[in-house]
Amino acid sequence: MKRDIKEVLLSEEVLQKRIRELGAAITKDYPDGDLVVICVLKGAVLFMSDLVKAIDRPLEMDFMAVSSYGNSTESSGIVKIVKDLNSSIEGRNVLIVEDIIDSGLTLQYLLRILQEREPASLKVCALLEREGQKTGQTFDYTGFIVPDGFLVGYGLDFAELYRNLPYIGILDPSVYE
Ligand code: IMP
Ligand code: MG
Repeated sequence: MKRDIKEVLLSEEVLQKRIRELGAAITKDYPDGDLVVICVLKGAVLFMSDLVKAIDRPLEMDFMAVSSYGNSTESSGIVKIVKDLNSSIEGRNVLIVEDIIDSGLTLQYLLRILQEREPASLKVCALLEREGQKTGQTFDYTGFIVPDGFLVGYGLDFAELYRNLPYIGILDPSVYE
């Protein structure tokens, strides 16, 4: 599997250190009371499981799966909910956990539909954010700003593979070209 990776961009150690920092910041920022952490499946699942262990306060976890319409390499911004949340978020503090904000369109859509459910607060924690991401929007917690190039590992896939790598690597273009 390693031969398909052109370069390791973020090693396991670097990822885990930053996730502990994000967890500490989240722990500090939220007042006592209710917190629901939402994992956007499937890409955020590894990040979510490490992040919640670094958050030292009571919280609930919920899961949501979305798929974007149109071709799979470029986001259309039109998103279909494939799996909705199990619980209501009305009046609750909600933190969305995402793997990567690329164009930002998926997240923009998700924020809009979740906002309609009237949570008390709605924030985003993204492990990665693409340099020069289109929306110009800033999100609440970001792990790393990353350059162009197709990234895999630590939840990120190419054709459903590579999600189980403990690090994030740049996929060798010969794999998909
Ligand atoms: P956006 O709507 O363009 O922000 O799309 C974000 C989604 O596209 C992410 O949640 C990922 O699932 C996927 N994605 C974007 N860039 C990459 C990448 O480099 N590798 C793997 N998946 C990616
Ligand atoms: Mg995703």
